[in-house]
Amino acid sequence: MIGGAWQKLSLVATRQILTSAKKIEMNTVEKGATMKFQPLITEEDIRKRVIELATQIKRDFIGKEPVFVGILNGCFPFLADLLRHLDLTCLVDFMRIRSYGVATETTGVVEITAELQRSIVGRDVIVVEDIVDTGLTMSYLLDNIRTRRPANLRVCTLLDKPARRLIDLHLDYIGFTIPDRFVVGYGLDFDEKYRNLPYITVYEDERPI
Ligand code: IMP
Repeated sequence: MIGGAWQKLSLVATRQILTSAKKIEMNTVEKGATMKFQPLITEEDIRKRVIELATQIKRDFIGKEPVFVGILNGCFPFLADLLRHLDLTCLVDFMRIRSYGVATETTGVVEITAELQRSIVGRDVIVVEDIVDTGLTMSYLLDNIRTRRPANLRVCTLLDKPARRLIDLHLDYIGFTIPDRFVVGYGLDFDEKYRNLPYITVYEDERPI
């Protein structure tokens, strides 16, 4: 169930998270001050959805041995949780990238700062990213990875922000489709901060809310 049906499921998940978004309030301490966070997507929402994605990927790759390529830094909690729930033999490798941009905007200028450790020629590859926003970064990565001649190339993203898309991309596995808001937590950062939040929250006015 790739493409339309999966996207529909993802939209249902989005509606659910948006209606439950305001219910939970959590505290964390930054620079000695307690800050309040309201998850847009709760830990429990994430946990359930990650299990669904792992089940879907297992069904699609049963009998195969896919290579997961995590895009650092943002993918780390998502990829770790996804693979913990994936009952399938697989390999894991990483690429680290640096996207150039100003504050919360990307320009699509991407530098690969850490390379895959093994060849992916002829392999089934699943790229795992934290978020696809304009699509410029993912498009650059896919073009680059295709030159390495994988047998099969799929994309799994925790979040999809289609409102800002500049490039038409096919995303095979989507955790949640979110509105046009800048979010942090569960791997996503602002200025390298907030990646450790166990939930996803909207970042506004230079403070998470
Ligand atoms: P794109 O090239 O515009 O698709 O942006 C992709 C990259 O921008 C992601 O890998 C993130 O690093 C960053 N990004 C885009 N939107 C957000 C957001 O809402 N929160 C945190 N990072 C984001």
